[in-house]
Formats: sequence, structure tokens, C-alpha cells
Amino acid sequence: MTSTFEAPPESVQHEHYMQRALELAALGTGCTSPNPLVGCVVVRDNRIIGEGWHEIYGHNHAEINALEAAGDARSATLYVTLEPCHHHGLTPPCTQAIVKAGVSHVVYALADPNPRAAGGAQWLQTQGIQVSTGVLEAQARFQNRFFLKHMACQRPYVIAKSATSLDGRIATRTGHSQWITGPEARERGHELRQCVDAIIVGADTVIADNPSLTVRLSAAGHNPDLIRHPRPVVLDSTGRVPLHSNLLNGSLPTRTLVMTTDAMPREHRLTIETRGFEVVSVLHNEHGPGTSPLAVLEALGDRGIHSVLIEGGATVSGSFRDAGLIDEMWTFIAPTVIGGESARSAYSATGSDTLGDATQLHDVHVENVGRDVLIRGCVTRPDTAPSTKQTTEQTSTTPSTEGATQAASSDTTTTASH
Ligand SMILES: NC(=O)c1ccc[n+]([C@@H]2O[C@H](COP(=O)([O-])OP(=O)(O)OC[C@H]3O[C@@H](n4cnc5c(N)ncnc54)[C@H](OP(=O)(O)O)[C@@H]3O)[C@@H](O)[C@H]2O)c1
Repeated sequence: MTSTFEAPPESVQHEHYMQRALELAALGTGCTSPNPLVGCVVVRDNRIIGEGWHEIYGHNHAEINALEAAGDARSATLYVTLEPCHHHGLTPPCTQAIVKAGVSHVVYALADPNPRAAGGAQWLQTQGIQVSTGVLEAQARFQNRFFLKHMACQRPYVIAKSATSLDGRIATRTGHSQWITGPEARERGHELRQCVDAIIVGADTVIADNPSLTVRLSAAGHNPDLIRHPRPVVLDSTGRVPLHSNLLNGSLPTRTLVMTTDAMPREHRLTIETRGFEVVSVLHNEHGPGTSPLAVLEALGDRGIHSVLIEGGATVSGSFRDAGLIDEMWTFIAPTVIGGESARSAYSATGSDTLGDATQLHDVHVENVGRDVLIRGCVTRPDTAPSTKQTTEQTSTTPSTEGATQAASSDTTTTASH
């Protein structure tokens, strides 16, 4: 009996190559913001002839890298995780390069939500190129959830991370919390830091732990030249964080952003600003201590920040949870029991009245990390994102802060460069 080779159906081939493009896109994690992650594969005669990804913000887009790797891409099919851009940003339109290279078919996963860059697919069709879309769209959407969130509501995607004991405590009754989880979990925490644009902590965590909030990864498998530290953001409405703390003493490679209110003494604010840090006043929190969580996120979104990691403590994580502003939760659970009435739990503030109001996670992943367990998932909630942005940031009259705000505005403009 003779067997005949049957090529897999076209949709299976599309998914196979798009999966590879998604893997390539992930290699840019932590380096492309405020641009999205994008991967690209050029295929001819069912063989990959070129691969590329958007490696670093401001550098070539994925399509250009893949076409350059292919050399001759005539009559090839190009798989890309995001619709090719059709505008001049920091680099020329990818659509033109695709046409020039003689590509005959473009398959992309996700339409570009950026109005400045969109329209690429339509234009490619007018140039006689076959265009297919929607292949592994859900995966591409999840991979670019930071970019999509900021595009949709100009606020960052929010991940809350905590390390707890089996009984849900993040510290002992005396405030001792270093370290509840083991080295492997802490390494994962640093990998997560590397993915985001900013890290939020509360005033009392800074006072208790004096964190640096930098990315510190063990050397193996990580290129130290590509490590990018997220921007530390301290929520300190009255100016309680001491000037000698790591985040304010000038010893770190990062520029701390202090989110405060008009309750911070002017002298204290000026001292922080004179040291080169940015201080931003926002509204008071109407439902708890400190700053308004929504106003904090809006101010960060205005600065081109697409993703933030909330690293506690309990009061800050709780107030963002109460406000329905957390998109994803990561909890590392150690096989340890702390006990005690007054030991803090991961999310305090007001909390839920009923189990029906409790935060539910979906797409839950559970994994062992060393001796600890990581449970992570996305938050199920009604869409609380306001369609029109409220302006809650207060105007600063301090010249250095105005300058920083202007610089941030131009950063935000560059968001549309892909
Ligand atoms: N295991 C872990 O994963 C982990 C992580 C972090 C911290 N910790 C531990 O947690 C403890 C600190 O937690 P905590 O709950 O006491 O303090 P916290 O959440 O770090 O800080 C709370 C303070 O931040 C200020 N704040 C400003 N804006 C806020 C807002 N929107 N929402 C809430 N607070 C805001 C308020 O002070 P003002 O009113 O003065 O502004 C508030 O009292 C420490 O023991 C630390 O070691 C554990």
C-alpha cells in the first residue's frame, strides 16, 4: 500500500507559524514599552526563511527584522502577531517594506488598535497582497494586554503581587516579612518586575522594608545589558517616607516617582524634587487612606506607563482591589504558618461584604516554584474602565514638576510610534 503525504490544512499551518511568531514576540518582553510586543515569521514552500521580533523600543519593527533575515522574500507568506503599521513613527511604515519585498500573503493575529498606525491591512490589499487575520488572536491579545489596556483607557494594566504564608499573612504581627517565600519565588518576582514599566509600594512598606525595587536576577540566562528597571512609585500622601530611604537617597539607578496629595509639606516636597525625583499631587482617597487609586493610575498613564506591579503592602493592595482596579493577581504561597490576630493579610483596606463581592480570578495557573506555590490569574469584574478619562491630577505649580510632566507628555505621544 502506498502512503501519500497530505499537507496539514491551511488553518493548522497558520497557527503553527503564528505560534512561532508569538514566541519570538515574547523575546522583547520588558524592552519594547511603550510599543507592543511583536514577532514575525517569513515562510515560503512551508519552510521558515526569516524570523524577527521588535527587540527594543525605537529600533526596527519585527517585520523589518524578519524580512532582512529572509533576504529574498518574494512570493512568501509573512506571519506577524500585530497588523503591520502604516505610518511614519520612529521608523518608516512596515507596509511599504512588505510590498517592496514582494510578499504575497500577510497573516496577522491582532488588528492594531492604535488609530495612528492602523489601516495597514486594508492598504496591503489595495496593493494586491492577500491578507488574513484573527489567527491565535486571543493569545496575541493576552501577550499585549499592557499595550491594549493603555490604548483602551490611557491607564496602565495593573498586576498585584504578594508573598503570603499558608494562612494568608504577608508579615508577622511585628511587621517582619523578609523573607516569607524562598529564593526561587523571589527570582520569579524579579522576572515579573522586569516585564513592567513601574512598581507601586505604600509608604509603610518603604518605612518597614526600605526596598530598592530594582530587578536583580541571577546571571544564568539573563543578559545584564537588557535588564531594565521599572520606575519605583511610592504612595505617600503626607510625606512620611524618610529622605534617607533607598528610594529617595539617590543610591539607585531609577528615578522614583512620589505620588502625594496637598497634605505633603511644601519643604519636604521641594527637598525631594531638588534631589531629582518627581513628585505628583493627586486627589485624596475618598474610601481609605492616602491617595486616590484611580488618580494614581491616571497620572501614571499620562506618563506613558502601560503596566504597573503593586508590591503592597496590605493597605495599598487592598485599596486598589476595593476600587476594582486590579487586572491580574500573582500570589506566592509559602508552606509556613504565621498566625496572630494583627498580622497583615495580603489585601486589607475595607474588603468585601459578601462572598459574592469577593474578587474572582479566571484563567488561573497554579505552579510549584521551589518550595512555594504560585497562583496567578486575571480578575473577573465588570468593565470598570471609564470610557472618557476623568481628570483627577492636580496642577503643580513647581517648575521642575511641570517640566517633568511636559517630558512625560511627549513620551506618551511616542506610544503611537509602532
Ligand atoms: N509579603 C509581601 O508580599 C509584602 C509586600 C509588601 C509589604 N509587606 C509588608 O506589609 C507591611 C506594610 O503594609 P501596610 O498595609 O502596613 O502598609 P502599605 O500598604 O505599605 O502602606 C500604607 C500607607 O500607604 C499610604 N497610601 C498612599 N496612597 C494609598 C492608597 N491609595 N491606598 C492605600 N494606602 C495608601 C497611606 O499612608 P499615608 O496616608 O500616610 O499616605 C497608607 O497608610 C510591612 O510589614 C511590609 O513588610 C509584605
